[in-house]
Amino acid sequence: MIPEGSLLSAHDLRKTYGSTPALDGASFSVHPGEVVAVMGPSGSGKSTLLHCLAGIVNPDSGTITYAGRELSAMSDAERSALRRSDFGFVFQFGQLVPELTCVENVALPLRLNGVKRKAAERTALEWMERLEVDGLGGKRPGEVSGGQGQRVAVARALAGSPKVIFADEPTGALDSLNGERVMELLTEAARSSHVAVVLVTHEARVAAFSDRDVTVRDGRAHNLEYSA
Ligand SMILES: Nc1ncnc2c1ncn2[C@@H]1O[C@H](COP(=O)(O)OP(=O)(O)O)[C@@H](O)[C@H]1O
Ligand SMILES: [Mg+2]
Repeated sequence: MIPEGSLLSAHDLRKTYGSTPALDGASFSVHPGEVVAVMGPSGSGKSTLLHCLAGIVNPDSGTITYAGRELSAMSDAERSALRRSDFGFVFQFGQLVPELTCVENVALPLRLNGVKRKAAERTALEWMERLEVDGLGGKRPGEVSGGQGQRVAVARALAGSPKVIFADEPTGALDSLNGERVMELLTEAARSSHVAVVLVTHEARVAAFSDRDVTVRDGRAHNLEYSA
C-alpha cells in the first residue's frame, strides 16, 4: 500500500465539500529529496490534496503516511508539531506576516521551534542570501516587490530545515521571468538540502522544474508508480 522508500504517501483519499467532490480516490507519494509537481486544471482538487498531505485538512477517507506514521492516528497537537518541525510552506501570495520584517519572517519557523532570536536571524540571513534577498532583511513585506516577497517566502520555507516543502502555485502571482527564477532557486536549494517538494501548479513551465509530475483529473492523482 505504501510505495517503497516514500517519505509521504496518500492512498485513496476522498474529500467532499457539500455535494462537490474535491478528491475522489487520490493516491500520491513522494520520496525523500524528490521534487514532484501536481498538475491539473483549476478546481481539480490540487490544493485540497496538498492540504490533506500537510495535515491541514482531514480527508473523509483514505490514509496518509508520513515517515511511517499515519496522520489520522495523530492528535491535532501532534500534527501541528509535525508541521512546525518537518514541513515548510510556500503559497501563491507569499503570506508573509506584514508586521514583521523580512528577516523576522524567515526566522519565524526557527523561533517557533525554540531557536533563540540571534541564532534564528543568522540562519535566516544565510537563506536570504541564497535566495538573493539578503539586502531586504530590515524591510517589511509591504515594501518589497512580488518576486522579492516570494523569495523571502521560499527562504522562510527552507529556514526551519524541513523534510518536505509544500508549494501551492508559488509563482502564480509573478511574471514569467521572476517565476522561473523563484522556481530555479527553490528547486536548487531543495535539491542541495535533500528536501522533498510537493509543487502544485497548473502551469507546465513551472512543472518543468520537477523530477516527476502527476496529473489530477477528476480528483485522482495518477502516476502513483515511479514510472513517469
Ligand atoms: N473550503 C472549501 N469549501 C467548499 N468547497 C471547496 C473548499 N475547498 C475546495 N473546494 C472545492 O473543491 C474543489 C477542488 O478545489 P481545490 O482543491 O481548491 O482545487 P485546485 O487547487 O485544483 O484549484 C473545487 O470545486 C472547490 O470549489
Ligand atoms: Mg488551488
